[in-house]
Formats: sequence, C-alpha cells, structure tokens
Amino acid sequence: MGKPRVLSGVQPTGNLHLGNYLGAIRNWVDGQANFENFFCVVDLHAITVPHDPATLAQDTRAIAALYLACGIDLNHATIFVQSHVSAHSELAWLLNCITPLNWLERMIQFKEKAVKQGENVSVGLLDYPVLMAADILLYDADRVPVGEDQKQHLELTRDIALRVNHQYGREDAPVLKVPEPAIQKAGARVMSLTDGTKKMSKSDPSPLSRISLLDPPDEIVKKIKKCKTDPVRGLAFDNPDRPECNNLLGLYQILSGQTKEAVAAECAPMGWGQFKPLLTDTVVAALEPIQTKYHEVVNETGYLDGILRQGRETAEAVADATLLRVKDALGFSRPL
Ligand code: TRP
Repeated sequence: MGKPRVLSGVQPTGNLHLGNYLGAIRNWVDGQANFENFFCVVDLHAITVPHDPATLAQDTRAIAALYLACGIDLNHATIFVQSHVSAHSELAWLLNCITPLNWLERMIQFKEKAVKQGENVSVGLLDYPVLMAADILLYDADRVPVGEDQKQHLELTRDIALRVNHQYGREDAPVLKVPEPAIQKAGARVMSLTDGTKKMSKSDPSPLSRISLLDPPDEIVKKIKKCKTDPVRGLAFDNPDRPECNNLLGLYQILSGQTKEAVAAECAPMGWGQFKPLLTDTVVAALEPIQTKYHEVVNETGYLDGILRQGRETAEAVADATLLRVKDALGFSRPL
C-alpha cells in the first residue's frame, strides 16, 4: 500500500495572504511527507466570476511559485495547473449530468456570491462545486485539506461520488473513491486587519485588510500601523469584545512559534504602541524566507515551466486513468 493521497488547490485570484498560508498551505507543508500530494492551481475556478485575461496566466504562475516558496517539496508533491489537465473539465461535464440541480442551489457559497453578482451570475459559478468534485475524484484522493468554508463542497463531492458508485458501480468495484474531508482547525483562522470579526479575504476591497505573502517590509509596517485595535490597555486572548486583539495576538503567537501561554504572559502588560512593532518585526521575519525563495523560483528562467510540465505529466497519468474508468462505467464507446 502506498501513502494516502492528498489533493488540494488554491484559486489564482490575486496573491496569497497570511490567512491562506496559515489556514491552508502551512498545514499542507507540515504533513506532506506522510502523503502522496497533488497541489493544483485551480485556474478554471478563477473564471467563475469576471476575471482579467491579462493577468490570469501570471497569477497562476505566481501561486505555483508560492507553493514552492512556502515549502512544498517536490519529493512528496506534484504541483500542476488545473487547466493543463483537460480531464478536469471533462469529468466535470460527466458529473454535471448526474448531479441534481437542487444540490447546487443549496450551496451557501453560491448563494453568497450570487447575491453580490446580481443578474450577471454565470452557470459556471453555480457549477463550481462540481468542477471541484472532479478535481478531487480524478485523483482518488483520500484526504482533502481545506478551510471550514469549503466543508459543504466536500460533502457534495462525497455525495456525487456515492451517487456515481450507486448508479454505475458494482458493490465490489466502486467507480470513484469517496474522499475524507480534512477540515483545518479554527486555530489558524486569520481575521481581517480592518475588522476582527471578518475572515482575512482576497475579495475584501481594502488591501489594508490583509497582508500578502509578497508584501515588502515597508508595506507590512504600514498595514500593521493602520490596523484596527481598541482603546483598552493590556492585551489578552479570547475576549469576545476584543476580536482584533485576539486576532493580532494569535498571529504573533503562530508566527513567533511560541505557546499561547507564553504570548499571553508576555503581552499582558503591553499597550498597542509596544505590541505593534513587535508584531511587525515578527511578520517581516516570518515572510522573509518565503519571499527570498519566491524570487529565486521566478527569476530562474525555465525552472517553474519545467516543474509545471512535469506536474502536468504526472497529474495527467492519474487523471486520465480515472476519467477512462468513469467513461467505461457510463457506457461510452472507446475511440479506436
Ligand atoms: N474551492 C476551493 C477554495 O476556494 C478551491 C478548490 C478548487 C479546491 N478545487 C479544489 C480545494 C479541490 C480542494 C480541492 O478554497
């Protein structure tokens, strides 16, 4: 038996921020040696809302480079671009035809995003979770590490796989592997710098609300200087009236690698004027090696291209085999 297989992905919409890193990618890195990993950049998902063709390719490469910069190790992982492996689109179509419409209409993320889009909402946005199911099921993934917000999409993926198996498989020969969700603990939930009750998000209109992994030090200084705090002296975790305080202490704790108790004791007597420079230095120091590695990766001509070419080949071999299995089960003729 080989190692259990992991699949996950990030959309190439803007740069990764601290929330993406601490909530997802750092966990992929920490566990990677125990699994056979597939990490994709889900560019087909990025066009489910209006996008800019002038930046899509560049943003896609930036995310792949950031995977490497954050410590994804090619000895344990395959890094690839979703649109480079056509089986993703093709399986999504097959799954579309067995997924009841009302399963998709129930999706919370669709309902939330659709409200924001008004009349212009695309069929693709509704169909987004079926494409995500295809991403996962093509690789016979055992585990799918994602944030809490993706839980409903993973349950849908399981329901789709079970339905395919029920309708087209045999008891002793399921067509698709039913994956286990691996929802990340709330501990690493990083909140917005401008509102401690909202998640740090790529789609927040204010760049001051998030720290991008590629923000230069002066930008980090500025954002932490301007971030929302409160007028209370003395800093403490877990006060429901002080969400910003809890978030900033949590960030400091994770990035400085200390225990919660140590941070609580160190920061209890501090005011914001003393804490903010400490947090700033810690964030800058934590991001420095990631930024250095990122620039090495993107500046070495051909390096990333080679990785993505190899990634596509490895991914395609697995994905095409699954696609064929599904097409056989559904009764398609094989091209001669
Ligand atoms: N929907 C995921 C998100 O926004 C991204 C994603 C697409 C994904 N396909 C996936 C995550 C497959 C895990 C597995 O975070």
